[in-house]
Amino acid sequence: MTIEQQLVGLIEHDDSVDPFPVIGWDALVWVVGNATQSAHFLQSAFGMRLEAYSGPETGNRDHKSFVLRSGAARFVIKGAVVPDSALVAHHDRHGDGVVDIALEVPDVDRCIAWARTHGATILTEPHDESDEFGTVRSAALATYGETRHTLVDRGGYAGPYLPGYVARTSTRVPRAPRLFQAIDHVVGNVEQGMMDRWVEFYRGVMGFTNMAEFVGDDIATEYSALMSKVVANGNHRVKFPLNEPAVGRKRSQIDEYLEFYRGPGVQHIALATGDILATVDALRAEGVEFLPTPHTYYEDAELRARIGHVRVPVAELQRRGILVDRDEDGYLLQIFTRPIADRPTVFFELIERHGSLGFGKGNFKALFQAIEREQAARGNL
Ligand SMILES: [Fe+2]
Repeated sequence: MTIEQQLVGLIEHDDSVDPFPVIGWDALVWVVGNATQSAHFLQSAFGMRLEAYSGPETGNRDHKSFVLRSGAARFVIKGAVVPDSALVAHHDRHGDGVVDIALEVPDVDRCIAWARTHGATILTEPHDESDEFGTVRSAALATYGETRHTLVDRGGYAGPYLPGYVARTSTRVPRAPRLFQAIDHVVGNVEQGMMDRWVEFYRGVMGFTNMAEFVGDDIATEYSALMSKVVANGNHRVKFPLNEPAVGRKRSQIDEYLEFYRGPGVQHIALATGDILATVDALRAEGVEFLPTPHTYYEDAELRARIGHVRVPVAELQRRGILVDRDEDGYLLQIFTRPIADRPTVFFELIERHGSLGFGKGNFKALFQAIEREQAARGNL
């Protein structure tokens, strides 16, 4: 097993029989209220490296855009510089969030042709953009809420990001080793009753397949009233869990998201790391806050037995609040940050996989209890 296979749980896949072949994540594009400072936060706290930029100084009079990287993960952070920018209206409605889950594909036209005949809304038709570094071909299709998937073929391009961007670094000394190496999965929250529709969208329009993980009424109604299914591309590099609220004893965390994001959108981004302990220590030292895990999680005999043998003493996990989940393939370690901006919407997960291809279903109960305590403290439960 290669490091990358272990890191994000890749499987073998034959692209030649795939109606919608996907190479992997191209970028997560964010719209935020202050891109200058969000880009600084992602560098200073999360150790990302600035590598490209577009803004007034480069002829972009509408917004500033910072391209950040950590390993294979690329984030693009955009903020308006003029009040009539379309980004202002987007941010006014949704707050900071992900607007575009851009995917790298080998053949934009083939993917769009398939998507179009299977019911997709095409937002941008396939087109070329060129500069001195070559040509990028791209197109975009709509997914849940005001979120889109831009499909990018950068096979003919050697520039720092896209035409219109210039290479740019910051004076910040890069952190070594990196705090995370790749995007593992991106979770979407959709309205009640819509989860299966979006699962079918990814299956029919984008050729994705269901993964085994499924959270149904049993966990949902007793704890945080949420249902979840997961779809993935052929080799599982791109994995999309989809959540919907369910009727429960209390107001769902998904309902809270949908209210404050004003509709469906990206709930969390899981960042893959080979050393979650060091990453969590470094992030805490930078002031990043994580959801607390109840001590009973580690002390409960049944849970303790389920954790079994992991690579570090359980006391080390407990000290940091790191969760463990185990299935027939192996185990995973994970932890969730608090929402990273002002609204109780988008947050990060850190995940270290050891064979498990799951998403932490076994932790839902323990985790939901922690989330609900936070929600209650905000007066939204
Ligand atoms: Fe997750």
